[in-house]
Order: sequence, then structure tokens, then C-alpha cells
Amino acid sequence: MTDAALQIAPSVLSADFAALGRDVADVERGGADLIHVDVMDGHFVPNITIGIPVVKALRRVATRPLDVHLMIEQPDRYIEAFVRNGAAMVSVHVEAVSHLHRTLALIRELGAKAGAVLNPSTPAAALEDVVRDLDFVVVMAVNPGFGGQTFIPNTIDKVRRVRALLRAAGVSAAIEVDGGVDPGNAAVLVAAGADILVAGQSIFGTPDAAQATRALRAAALRQL
Ligand code: DX5
Ligand code: ZN
Repeated sequence: MTDAALQIAPSVLSADFAALGRDVADVERGGADLIHVDVMDGHFVPNITIGIPVVKALRRVATRPLDVHLMIEQPDRYIEAFVRNGAAMVSVHVEAVSHLHRTLALIRELGAKAGAVLNPSTPAAALEDVVRDLDFVVVMAVNPGFGGQTFIPNTIDKVRRVRALLRAAGVSAAIEVDGGVDPGNAAVLVAAGADILVAGQSIFGTPDAAQATRALRAAALRQL
């Protein structure tokens, strides 16, 4: 993995919601490549977080692309609004949609990058028939719903399995890992095939989010 290929995506779920502009500027100063936005509806997951107006506001202040992770039921109803209001990447949960192929096509038609998310209990093979319809895969390393949860170690093997599946199909989609990512597991994840690391607590839970962003990148690029 070259420095340029790895992408760090701080999750604003752990930022200060009363100072989102400042927190986004901090991580961008630390070299963040993407801004990860966790949208939760209180149905697909037990928590309620951010919606379309916040994405619109983030678009005004962020200089990096917005990576919008939809943890909602019936995402098709909202995808167009998220893209029109600034989402450059949109990911939907395999477990939340009945017609994944159609949903991924809709995201691409709207001009955004299309991602499919796998919960910890969903096998990599769930993506077998949509590999060509994906720009990225999100492998959850925690059960979605909250920031600051403990990394599930099986995720490392899951990333390897997703990478193998993509490689076998001759597809170069990116692999994003979301949940519990920190400087201690970043290099192993990259070695397993991850291209994008999402991090909430390990960045915004520190006194200096810019420095924590730099530290996560340095840790991820460490030779094992
Ligand atoms: C979990 C969210 C994650 C979360 C990551 O439901 O999808 O993006 O914010 O936060 P940490 O890095 O704190 O686990
Ligand atoms: Zn997320």
C-alpha cells in the first residue's frame, strides 16, 4: 500500500456536534482524505444521528469528499436527497435492502460512488453477484449503531475474504473498514486488503484530532 492509496476517513459521529466545522477543519489539516458521515434512523439501528440538512451543512465546510454511510431502512427513498446535498460516496447495508443491485445502480446513476456494507454477521459471499456494481465495500468491524465500540477481530479475515472475492472477479473496488479502528489494528487491516480506514473515537476522542489523523495514517503504513 502506498501512502497515496490509503485513505483515512474520520467519522464525525464522535466529533463535537456544536462545532462540526471546526472539527472537520482539524482532521483535514491532519490529512483526512474523506469525511465519514453516519446516518442512523432508529429502526435499522437503535440510534438516531445525522440527516440530510447536516450533510448539506458539512458540504459547505468540508474540502474532502463526504462518505455517507446509511444505516437506515428503505435507503432508496433518501439516496437522491443525500447525493444532491453533497454525498460523493453512499453506502447501504446489504441487510437493509431487498434489491441491492437496483440500489447500487441508483447511487451510480446519481453520480456518486456506490458502496455495500456488511454487518459483522453477514458473509463476504453476500456480495458475489454484485461485485461489478460496486465502487467500494464497507466491512463493519462492530455492530452498527454507536461509536467507540470494541473491534471484532474476525474482521481481519473478513477483509481478506472480501479482497479475494474482488480479486477473483477481476474487480478493483476499494475496501473500507468501519468500527473500532485505531493505530493498533490499522496496519493489519491494510495488510489484509483495506484501502479506507474509518475512525471516530481514535481520532475525535483524543485531545488533538489533526495529530490523531496523522498518527493513524502513520500506523496504517507501518511495515509488519
Ligand atoms: C458505527 C459507525 C461508525 C462509527 C465508528 O455504527 O458506522 O462509523 O462512527 O466509530 P469508532 O471508530 O469510534 O468505532
Ligand atoms: Zn460508519
